[in-house]
Amino acid sequence: MKDRNKIKELLASGEQDIDVHIKGWVRTKRGNKNIAFINVNDGSTIHNIQVVAEVASFDAELMKKITTGACIAVSGKLVESLGKGQAVEIQAREITLYGEADPEKYPLQKKGHSLEFLREIAHLRFRTNTFGAVFRIRHSLSFAIHKFFNDKGFVYLHTPIITGSDAEGAGEMFRVTTLDMQDPPRTDRGEIDYRQDFFGKETKLTVSGQLEGELGALALGEIYTFGPTFRAENSNTPRHLAEFWMIEPEMTFYDNDDNMDLAEEFVKYLVRYALEHNADDLAFLQKMYDEELLDRLRFILEDDFVRTTYTDAIEILSASGQKFEFPVKWGADLQAEHERYLVEKHFKKPVILTDYPKDIKAFYMKQNDDGKTVRAMDVLFPRIGEIIGGSQREEDHDKLYRRIQELNIPEKDLWWYLETRVFGSAPHSGFGLGFERLVLFVTGMANIRDVIPFPRTPKNAEF
Ligand code: 4AD
Ligand code: MG
Repeated sequence: MKDRNKIKELLASGEQDIDVHIKGWVRTKRGNKNIAFINVNDGSTIHNIQVVAEVASFDAELMKKITTGACIAVSGKLVESLGKGQAVEIQAREITLYGEADPEKYPLQKKGHSLEFLREIAHLRFRTNTFGAVFRIRHSLSFAIHKFFNDKGFVYLHTPIITGSDAEGAGEMFRVTTLDMQDPPRTDRGEIDYRQDFFGKETKLTVSGQLEGELGALALGEIYTFGPTFRAENSNTPRHLAEFWMIEPEMTFYDNDDNMDLAEEFVKYLVRYALEHNADDLAFLQKMYDEELLDRLRFILEDDFVRTTYTDAIEILSASGQKFEFPVKWGADLQAEHERYLVEKHFKKPVILTDYPKDIKAFYMKQNDDGKTVRAMDVLFPRIGEIIGGSQREEDHDKLYRRIQELNIPEKDLWWYLETRVFGSAPHSGFGLGFERLVLFVTGMANIRDVIPFPRTPKNAEF
């Protein structure tokens, strides 16, 4: 593909009067019987390049088939454009048609479809400006995540997707089995006999890579995971997916303050990375969907995040005089409406809440001396609510063991986790960033279904 020019590079090159060769999809064609103006996009940028073709020089059948959605290759000369809206254009010498797109049938023939409609044609929505922008930004953030951790010397650890432990308690899990669901083998007591299943035991899709991540951190020092996680909760909200990607760093010798410092540095780095590398796509999304987008991104960078305790947050919310759908009470989990009130109305800054009641957090969090709270930390963002959840981990074997028993978690599921607290245990901390929540925030889209290529939500797995 040596001779193919990417449109992004041509537009940025500042060159003129050179021979070029582009390939891409027709966005629009207009003109008259003498001359055709064909706007082509190849996915490398939100911007199209204008191809100018003298109709008489091309086969009439070919010209007829160059319609919105068709895929073509164009060879010609890059010249200064006299028209408005672009600095350069291509004078076509040769056009090849790869694939036509019947205007009677092509669903994206017209502009201005709703995002809901586009979700139903997720196989084609990549070809819109909006989804081009969103998925270029998603890519850019993924790359930045690896760069951030690599530059700090963290090891990227691949934790399993299929898991035999049901221990995180983060939500309902999806079962993985090869048993015949019509007629599964049974034990003498009539229960399904998972000993005959593929792995010889019950297995599920993971809700988090953390527990395995900790095993790596307690040898490699600092690791991170970045992979898919699965939750079979029936949450039909604009912020929940059944399959989402999570980044989970885990750091030995970090306390919860170090953990919060890293989380804050990390999300600021990612937002700054997008502002620097995705300016055109962000400008487009700001114009089309959300005029406050860039201000909101800069708002993340401006100040230190506020750090305060769950208990203080409950007092602030109780004294706020604000009507909430869910009651505010010490011991109850915070809802997105509470989190957003704290960030958007009260502090007007991103907030990190710490020291949550132990009963609403996972078993592995480090227990505080008050006997009631744990050393948790959640990072709360405007519009999103919780974007990161994490904690210092309980490294004391006996305390951890007692908590596991209190919660009736079967020890057979966790013997390997407990053993890391028997051999060379060490203080350590970590957190999980929901990748789609980050992409949602950075793109300013309103629904999490629009920032993952193929959303998995209740009753929806078409593509
Ligand atoms: O708060 P969560 O459940 O934390 C954990 O899973 C820990 N093991 C993380 C850790 O300490 N290593 O999830 C972490 C983040 C949330 O803050 C949220 O951003 C995102 O994952 N998240 C979801 N994103 C989309 N859809 C869902 N159903 C999500 N559930 C959690
Ligand atoms: Mg959480």
